Amino acid sequence: MAEEAILGFLQNNDEIAHSGYFAAEHNLDHEEVKNVIKSLQAFRYIEAKVLKREFYGLTDEGKKYAAEGSPEFHFFSAVPEEGTISMDDLQRMLDPFVFDVGSKQAPKKKWVAMGQQVSRTVQHVEDKVKEMLLQIQQGLELDQESLKSLKYRKLIILTEKWSGYSEVKKGANYAPERRSLATDLTRENLQNWQELDFKEYNVNAKGQPVDSGHLHPLLKVRKQFKDIFYQMGFEEMPTNNFVESSFWNFDALFQPQQHPARDSHDTFFLKAPSTTRELTEDYVARVKQVHESGGFGSRGYNCEWKREEANKNLLRTHTTAVSSRMLYELAKGPFTPKKYYSIDRVFRNEAVDKTHLAEFHQIEGVVCDRGLTLGDLIGVLQEFFSRLGMSELRFKPAYNPYTEPSMEIFSYHAGLEKWVEIGNSGMFRPEMLRPMGLPEDVRVIAWGLSLERPTMILYECDNIRELFGHKVDLKKVKENPLCRIGIESS
Ligand code: PHE
Repeated sequence: MAEEAILGFLQNNDEIAHSGYFAAEHNLDHEEVKNVIKSLQAFRYIEAKVLKREFYGLTDEGKKYAAEGSPEFHFFSAVPEEGTISMDDLQRMLDPFVFDVGSKQAPKKKWVAMGQQVSRTVQHVEDKVKEMLLQIQQGLELDQESLKSLKYRKLIILTEKWSGYSEVKKGANYAPERRSLATDLTRENLQNWQELDFKEYNVNAKGQPVDSGHLHPLLKVRKQFKDIFYQMGFEEMPTNNFVESSFWNFDALFQPQQHPARDSHDTFFLKAPSTTRELTEDYVARVKQVHESGGFGSRGYNCEWKREEANKNLLRTHTTAVSSRMLYELAKGPFTPKKYYSIDRVFRNEAVDKTHLAEFHQIEGVVCDRGLTLGDLIGVLQEFFSRLGMSELRFKPAYNPYTEPSMEIFSYHAGLEKWVEIGNSGMFRPEMLRPMGLPEDVRVIAWGLSLERPTMILYECDNIRELFGHKVDLKKVKENPLCRIGIESS
């Protein structure tokens, strides 16, 4: 209806001057006329200018002034044409409200000079305020300045906002009737393309966000580590047991039974089942022997080794427990060199803070072969970490019960401008390897690091609780980059 009326009207006329009057004359709803104009304008059938108007009504005070004149006018009128009058006399003569407002407005308008005595500075004034208020009452438009002054004096209030269009004219694509546009490239449309108008592509439009799953940063970084291990020829160890016996977690690793890490302050022990069901007895006997009295060139700890202590179940504190099981398995057959890795969860009874959680993920690499040296360990670490973008490494002597020598690994972080500790490493002791039955000349080099630490650096996260656990920021998980390689690029 409205569309036909507008396009039809423009066929014979230059313009629609005012959409409101047009609607009224053609018996159309103005809202509908506006919508049609907007849409025709978008397709350049027509051009139009937005027209906005505000309607005001008089407040009670405004109505009073419109009927009786403004207080400043009455104040002025009360001042004699010649000579002066005292303020006291004026106050007595005038209504208190008129006196109050008039004595402020009249001097402001420079109608009167005021001290103790009041005199006129002009002979004749016009009551503009009254005139403007009458105009508003009649529905006439006022300039912005006048409206502002009346609004400021609270004589008028906004009652209605009106919007419409003016100067509605033919546009570049004007036609007396809107042609529906072909939107799809179907066989029929392509065959009739000459008769059709095709809808323009909006190549700047954003596509619908694709609703899909998102990988957590830890999973992404884990994938990057896994790829590096595979590139370097490592195979994955089975890490599917969070519950481990103290035997495999500590004793098999030649960790003394008095070691503080074996305290319940550091380790989560299980209540039920509190002990392991079975251990391989002959191997247990060899482990007991090496702890108590040594062997393979070692003096041992010279302390009683208790089976009950080894039987205690716990949540594994490191994935080196998995490595010890794997090496034991490897020792059963004829020796073949191996490269193993694992990435999985470990648990420690630690106070939770910005950088520590009671559970986290460990990455571990193990290489066993005959005659390996510390030089091999350093070489493997250099190779491994440079694939992560960390090629500047430093090593610091350290202590682990199961490795000798042991080294902490540091990498220079260009962003943080300092050396950061990134892992721990060493060569497994003969006290660990020989009771398993590995040949004397077999050496095992190994290293471990957390998955969280590099992930936090790569994804610029400074609170581990945002990365892992119930406070994870899902928005970040959805929006963070697909992958990040190279610690210095962070
Ligand atoms: N198990 C060590 C840790 O938890 C890491 C490590 C693994 C050290 C292998 C040396 C050799 O920190």
